[in-house]
Amino acid sequence: MRFLIDTANVEEIREIHEWGVLAGVTTNPSLVAKEGRDFIETLKEILDIVDGPISAEVISTDAAGMIEEGEKLAALSKNIVVKLPMTAEGLKATKYFAKKKIKTNVTLVFSANQALLAARAGATFVSPFLGRLDDIGQDGMQLIEDIAEIFSAHDIDTEIIAASVRHPVHVTEAARRGSHYATIPAKVFKQLIAHPLTESGLEKFLADWASMQK
Ligand code: E4P
Repeated sequence: MRFLIDTANVEEIREIHEWGVLAGVTTNPSLVAKEGRDFIETLKEILDIVDGPISAEVISTDAAGMIEEGEKLAALSKNIVVKLPMTAEGLKATKYFAKKKIKTNVTLVFSANQALLAARAGATFVSPFLGRLDDIGQDGMQLIEDIAEIFSAHDIDTEIIAASVRHPVHVTEAARRGSHYATIPAKVFKQLIAHPLTESGLEKFLADWASMQK
């Protein structure tokens, strides 16, 4: 499984990118609104930092509007992935972009059937939302497993992005169950690194080394 960062905050992207583990970035309208900056300018800065898939979401709800917005976004770079909602209109736009060989990420996926529809429309990526399913008492992780099994059984090359990741267990489990990517907030990336035994172990190594120098 590869790592994406789920943010529109350029500083967070820069910081985690320096770790050398980032394959790309996902944004959504809420994340962009949180930063309060121009969307296109933000995307250009992100494109300068990370050489990989950068998901940029449309806000139109009709296929024609999605196509118009998506074409403008895709014109920014070959790394732009047009992010489209899992609706009938979103599927039409997905099909359109697939024919034009423009990458798409179908978002707001909450069932295996939605993932299969998106894949058959030609989506490059599907984004099942783990945390939001957990929030309503459903098993987000089982959804990842189901989609991975279905895609593998039918030789579907659409890739799965585990989204709405809230904690490190989501990351481990998404990897274990066959997700190709997880898109992770910066806060959770920092939790992935931390382990009390790593910290106390390093302290002890350094203390022992210092005692030998006396
Ligand atoms: C996915 O691409 C979305 O940007 C994101 O993961 C949503 O996460 P949330 O449920 O924490 O808002």
